[in-house]
Amino acid sequence: MSQSFETILRKRFGRRALFGGTARMIPLAAFAAGMQQRGSAADSPEAVPASPEEPKVAERDAARDSRLQFQPIAGTTRDAVVVASGYRSDLLIAWGDPLFNDSPPFDPSRQTGRSQSLQFGYNVDWMGFFPLPAYEVKNSSHGLIVVNHEYTNPELMFKNWGGFENQTKDQTEVELEAHGLSVIEVMRDRSGRWRYIQGSRFNRRITATTFCRLTGPAAGSRWMQTSADLSGDTVMGTLNNCAGGETPWGTAISGEENFHQYFSNVNGLPTGPVRTLHSRYGIPGGNGSYPWARHFRRFDVAQEPNEPFRHGWMVEFDPYDPTSMPKKRTALGRFRHEGCTFQIARNGRVVGYMGDDERFQYMYKYVSRGVFNPFDRAANDKLLDEGTLYVAKLNEDGTGEWLALVQGNGPLTAANGYPTQAEVLIDTRGAATLLGATPMDRPEDMEANPVTGKVYVALTNNTARTDRQVNKSNPRANNRFGHILEITEDDGDHTSTKFTWEIFMLCGDGKVASHGAFFAGYDPTKVSAIANPDNIIFDNKGNLWISTDGQPSSLRINDGVYAVATEGPERGNVKQLLSVAVGAEAASLVLTPDNTALFVSVQHPGEGGKWTDNPSEAISNFPDSKQPARPALVVVTKTSGSPIIGT
Ligand code: FEO
Ligand code: CA
Ligand code: CA
Repeated sequence: MSQSFETILRKRFGRRALFGGTARMIPLAAFAAGMQQRGSAADSPEAVPASPEEPKVAERDAARDSRLQFQPIAGTTRDAVVVASGYRSDLLIAWGDPLFNDSPPFDPSRQTGRSQSLQFGYNVDWMGFFPLPAYEVKNSSHGLIVVNHEYTNPELMFKNWGGFENQTKDQTEVELEAHGLSVIEVMRDRSGRWRYIQGSRFNRRITATTFCRLTGPAAGSRWMQTSADLSGDTVMGTLNNCAGGETPWGTAISGEENFHQYFSNVNGLPTGPVRTLHSRYGIPGGNGSYPWARHFRRFDVAQEPNEPFRHGWMVEFDPYDPTSMPKKRTALGRFRHEGCTFQIARNGRVVGYMGDDERFQYMYKYVSRGVFNPFDRAANDKLLDEGTLYVAKLNEDGTGEWLALVQGNGPLTAANGYPTQAEVLIDTRGAATLLGATPMDRPEDMEANPVTGKVYVALTNNTARTDRQVNKSNPRANNRFGHILEITEDDGDHTSTKFTWEIFMLCGDGKVASHGAFFAGYDPTKVSAIANPDNIIFDNKGNLWISTDGQPSSLRINDGVYAVATEGPERGNVKQLLSVAVGAEAASLVLTPDNTALFVSVQHPGEGGKWTDNPSEAISNFPDSKQPARPALVVVTKTSGSPIIGT
């Protein structure tokens, strides 16, 4: 090769595409794979963006043309998706909708595991948008949506639910099949309306009974072996899929978050190192939150003490191949994964940012050993198996370090319980604690700005932090409202082991002085009240979009979707675009590549209530004014058809 890797990629994709954010990068990467397969279109005008821009020019341009034009809505408690003037919201798909030609009609009073396995799952969370035809990078009117189904609400789902003690095996089977993920083909018709396509060959359900392969350093470890899987490399199911990410090579990756709650310890406690490990991850010593262990022995820790070690991972699969087996990538560590968002570093390595969503847990990043190959999609398969996992330590002077979670590094020795890298990864939390990582206020989504490269972290809340535990990066005791951190990697290099950080936002109602809200220096009385930031994305101009989880208890308004400029004179000016139904969380959001459509997942509408046949008694009747309320995806567009941010 006569030209360097970077030169070739610059030529093909332009600087901002190459070093830009996920939304821009993934289709282009997939496009490169497609180009090689077809051997055409490589030099079409659309495939080669403008010449490289210097960062300062790019930042200045972004600040100039990135203004969010919409008039924010007022926070509301209406049982509906409410959007700003000039926008519309349409239902795309909801729990129970048929995915396949042989899917039975949704009958909530007579669900079975089989019917649910052929229908759209329950509590929707993260979504990825994967353009179609495969690798048509700019296609914003046709694609696949991959969506997580995080958990189930049996009290809302089942007509005759008898509580934890009396939940039947049939009901449990429905729950198992309502978890996992869905892949749906979606398209925009001539009138501009989006719909999903029942019977598409791409449609797929991955559930708590789908077999997944364990890969990476912890695969096959003795800790992974169970009576059903003596090899320790094949797991039935993926659980509590919360947030996720799109890899540069066009696959989806989904985080297993609160996996602990499905396990119970029916017949007594295992003792010794296993119990210590389980405690660190919240595996219950008695009943869990779900009674699954009563019907399926793999969820009974007393019988299968190693089964929990096979969950809590990032799970990757190819949405373009409905037969592909999901892979649990152990090199990315085991914790309550919120998601993983990717950057390609200057040297071609792939960097993934991840949060562990529990109070006083940590922020992580993964750096691949090998480099991204945009010309051979399959060549990237090992990038998430071979690399280094780091955890963040934040110093009080605004600097920080990424500490390597590598066996043999400092205290990560056999004497401390880490004889191999497998133990380091299975007990990521314990290893991170030994290294001195900084406990944060529920780190959820982490994502880099495609324009500036700065990394943002949504810290949802932490009401358990005391006055004695505050520090500069988690500055509030009883943190009800949450905050957002802004991280700048040294030299703008995503592989750097040093960084600086600052508080971007302290959430709350800026008009209420006692909330102590701060919005990057913007007048706090002039912004939308916001709390409990959860999933975040960026638009193509570098504005941060935030979905919230928990505002009903903190601000007494429904959860919603907000946008905020990160640079320029509008930096910190938070505007609310949308509010979701009662009881619901605005769990996640994704934009089409051209930013003209914003998909929003509305999770757990009606939560706090229970099954009723009478809509007038229900907390929520979203989305179709009847019972039961159904978790759903909606698509938000401008009535003018222009990009979501405005002009
Ligand atoms: Fe499932 Fe941390 O949200
Ligand atoms: Ca979340
Ligand atoms: Ca959440």
